[in-house]
Amino acid sequence: MTQEEKTREFYANIIDSVGDGVIVIDTAGRVALMNPAAEEITGISRRQAQGNPFSALFKETEILREMVEKTAATGMSISDHENIVIRKAKQLTPVSATTCPLMLASGEMTGTILVLRDLTSIRDLEDAVRHADRLSTLGTLAAGLAHEIKNPLGGIKGAAQLLDLELPAESELRDNVRIMVREVERVNRIVEELLALASPRRLTLAPVNLHKVLGDIVTLQKRATEGRKISFLQQFDPSIPPILVDEGLLTQLFLNLIKNAVEAVDDGGLVRITSRVISDYSMTQKGERRSRLVAVEVSDDGPGIPKEQLDQLFTPFFTTKAKGTGLGLAICQKIVSEHRGMIKVDSDPGKGTTFTVMVPLIQ
Ligand SMILES: Nc1ncnc2c1ncn2[C@@H]1O[C@H](COP(=O)(O)OP(=O)(O)OP(=O)(O)O)[C@@H](O)[C@H]1O
Ligand SMILES: [Mg+2]
Repeated sequence: MTQEEKTREFYANIIDSVGDGVIVIDTAGRVALMNPAAEEITGISRRQAQGNPFSALFKETEILREMVEKTAATGMSISDHENIVIRKAKQLTPVSATTCPLMLASGEMTGTILVLRDLTSIRDLEDAVRHADRLSTLGTLAAGLAHEIKNPLGGIKGAAQLLDLELPAESELRDNVRIMVREVERVNRIVEELLALASPRRLTLAPVNLHKVLGDIVTLQKRATEGRKISFLQQFDPSIPPILVDEGLLTQLFLNLIKNAVEAVDDGGLVRITSRVISDYSMTQKGERRSRLVAVEVSDDGPGIPKEQLDQLFTPFFTTKAKGTGLGLAICQKIVSEHRGMIKVDSDPGKGTTFTVMVPLIQ
């Protein structure tokens, strides 16, 4: 290898190793060079791109074409951190872009460099921060609400109970009193749940037999839905050892998911619960850990969830049910993250929905 070839390879390696996407466009507007990160971000391969007009390759991303043209014409550097989205196949990638002129030592301009930075993970982080923000606002609100609401509620309930004692046993008004008490208890429960959702708490960890917890919930739900002919299918991996979790919270988590499934299906519908171990799964939240996880899926053959609602499911008070509070899934998400796990939803409108919970075997 000649010295010049070596130098060239050295520089090519540098460009290839940069984490940002780098595309070099020559003075004729053709792509002269593209690094692997740029291939990854744009979904266009180096072979497809090389020697072809940039404007044709990026027909759909007008803002990038304009930036490149402007830099080529004026020699100015341009940075744009606003809302550039690159579409590859069906996927949309948010990016920030910078263009700058490629200058020779003599000052002559021989092309334009476009640098693309993938913002996906930053956006995910921003979403998580926004979510945390929302929860802490909710916490303050919930504490205030609980304080202001619980006392009058206690008063109403007490008064209703007194009324119940005063009314003759055969009075039809007693039904109304019973409704009052029931609804007061409902409001009370919502306030309690909101408070639990918004405040930090300590977990009581102990080895728990996951399949017993799931089995008990199913037994209860079978009894509660008798007459609706719902089939409950349980497919458990018998090799799963006791897992270290908070049993009360774990029960609440799966009860909420299984109740949602039961509420989603028609009479005669199917609710399927499966468990398995995922080995060596690297946790994405912290990034540095490898551990064994259990995955539990709760699926149903209900109507599914429209795509545009998927993002809102875990938001407190999002509900499509006349009598729902919309706190069920928000509580599930809190419990899962308290156990350093993950929850996700897949839904096929018309076919059904699957919620998957993954938690580490040990905390
Ligand atoms: N298995 C499912 N199939 C279809 N839609 C679902 C399913 N699970 C949840 N959803 C949708 O997500 C919404 C929010 O669920 P979540 O459990 O948080 O509240 P809810 O069930 O409406 O009320 P709550 O659980 O407080 O009684 C539901 O109203 C429903 O639209
Ligand atoms: Mg629910």
